[in-house]
This record gives sequence, structure tokens and C-alpha cells, in this order.
Amino acid sequence: MRRKLVAGNWKMNGSSESIRGLLQGIKEGAAPVAAVELAVFPPFVYLGLVEQQLSGTTVAWGTQNLSEQVSGAFTGEVAGSMLNDFHCAYVIVGHSERRTLYGETDDLVARKFAAARKVGIKPILCVGETLEERDQGVTESVVERQLKAVLDLEGVEAFNDAVIAYEPVWAIGTGRTATPQQAQEVHAFIRAKLAERNSTVAAKTRILYGGSMKAANAVELLAMADIDGGLIGGASLEAKEFLAIARAGC
Ligand code: PGA
Repeated sequence: MRRKLVAGNWKMNGSSESIRGLLQGIKEGAAPVAAVELAVFPPFVYLGLVEQQLSGTTVAWGTQNLSEQVSGAFTGEVAGSMLNDFHCAYVIVGHSERRTLYGETDDLVARKFAAARKVGIKPILCVGETLEERDQGVTESVVERQLKAVLDLEGVEAFNDAVIAYEPVWAIGTGRTATPQQAQEVHAFIRAKLAERNSTVAAKTRILYGGSMKAANAVELLAMADIDGGLIGGASLEAKEFLAIARAGC
């Protein structure tokens, strides 16, 4: 049985003050949704604050990115070992905003995935097609290519300690959600791709859906056989809404 994971990707939002309030709300409402694992992903600079607020609670935390490098002259970058100093459980790699706005390639994403694993932090690998790609009917080949880069570098067993997030780019921040059937189809495809290499790993791997997920559509999405949680952007910035999504997964 795969325990659902509801993860809040805060992106470049928040302040010390708003984050304190948000975390307070999440902590207060976490117990009734304990069947679901919760995690939050603040901007790097708030990691210390988040660790301080969440230590000893059931809520996990991590970051939205990391460097593929170990240390050295890489101005502006943050290494996996540094994330360990703040006890991050997870790190998001290959988010579509990193891929499209910052030019991260499949190869770089795979190396970031490897860097996270090397320091014992579970990567959440994001994959997903653009609207143009969906319209061209190449959704599966795009997702397969993104996944293959990681599988070829790290092997399927790496997914024993990793999570996948399917995020159709056209659904991110647009208010346009994939239908549960559309999402389920791609999730099942991803699991089948893992199963070609190792069926035990495939059965265990959590595959989250992301893209305009909110309380109002979470019940239907999370009811699908291969949807094991959500990677939530906008709706994770409000404790009530974030917790309501988690409740939908209980
Ligand atoms: P959204 O973002 O929920 O605001 O669409 C999801 C994501 O980018 O992870």
C-alpha cells in the first residue's frame, strides 16, 4: 500500500511572517489527516525557519531545487550536503519551471536526482508535457524521455527512495486541471515504464499529480488507482486549502 504524499511547492512566495502563520495552521490541522504524509517546500532562505517550526512534528520539508555539484565555485548554487544540515527529507528536481525558464535539460535533472540520492535525500522527479506536446499526441514519449534520463543514470532501484510527480505543464498555475482520467492514463504509463525494469519497484513508487490541484478536485484525482498524492503550488499557500487536499486523500 502506498501512503499518499501531499507536498506543497511554495515556489518563490512568502515572507518570514507569512510562513510562520502558514506553518502554524498546517501544524494545528495535521493530526486529523495523519493517514497522508505532508511535506512543504519553501524557498532556500526560509529553510532554517521551516526546520525550526517543523522539527518534532509529522510534517516533512525539503527544497525546490539543488545543485548537481558537491561544493566549490558555483555562485548562487546550493549543494545537497547543505540541505542535509537542515534535515530535508525531500528535494524537488526537474520542475517544469526549472526546465523551461532556467534551461534544465533531462541530463542535468538526472544529475540533480543523483546528487540528492548521494546525500540521502529523496528526490521528487517532475515530468510532464507542454500543451503543444499534448496536442501533438507526444505526451507519452516526452514523459518517457524525461524518465529514461534518470533510469539510465541511476537505475530503477533508485526509485525505492524517490517520488515521481506528473505535472502537465499546461495545468500548472493555469486553473486548468487534467481530468482524473487524463492524469491516471499518464500515471499508469509511468508505472508501466518502471515495471518494465522492475515490477516491485514500480508497485512501490509514489506518483504524485501536480497542476492546479485544489480541494475541489482533489477527491476525484486522489481516487484514481495510480495517483498517490499531489504536488501543490498555489493551493499550498493557504493552510486550510492545503489540509483540505490532504483530507481528500485520507
Ligand atoms: P499549481 O502548481 O498547483 O499552482 O498549478 C503546481 C506545481 O507547479 O508544482
